[in-house]
Amino acid sequence: MRKLLALAAVVAVGAVVTASASLAEEKKEEEKKPMSIHDVMEKGFKGGKSLFRAVTNKKKESTEEQNKKFLGMLKDMAKQKPPMGDEESWKKLTTAMIEPAEMIVKGEEVAKAKLALKKAASCAKCHKAHKPKE
Ligand code: HEC
Repeated sequence: MRKLLALAAVVAVGAVVTASASLAEEKKEEEKKPMSIHDVMEKGFKGGKSLFRAVTNKKKESTEEQNKKFLGMLKDMAKQKPPMGDEESWKKLTTAMIEPAEMIVKGEEVAKAKLALKKAASCAKCHKAHKPKE
């Protein structure tokens, strides 16, 4: 009986370990999944208080956390296919934003990079080419 109990305990522990391992894997999977273009727009670009405005603000310095978060969003965006339009053009438009955003994160020529990022992130230009009309 004791042996059986011990065996049951081993099996139970094994099950718990396996379950938590797969949970961890799931979590990793979740982290790897890029933020959808829609969410990047809603969370990073939309409105006067957006991350985009904060990161490109000439007068007020953005925090490292804001800069990194925005860069991450841009990279997520670039990984995906645009809902409309040419992929070549999408790559070009998104890469044009990633380069200056990387410079801001690294603290290289920040003032220049902010201007470049602002210019590259042309809402109208990109929407015309890649945002489906409702
Ligand atoms: C490099 C391309 C690109 C740039 C730059 C860009 N957008 Fe977008 N935006 C898109 C695409 C693509 C969609 C459509 C997403 C979809 O339908 O999944 C979109 C959609 C949106 C939406 C609607 C949310 C949605 O997904 O329906 C808002 C709001 C928005 N953009 C705001 C902005 C603002 C403000 C700027 C400029 C500061 C901007 N975007 C710059 C590509 C871009």
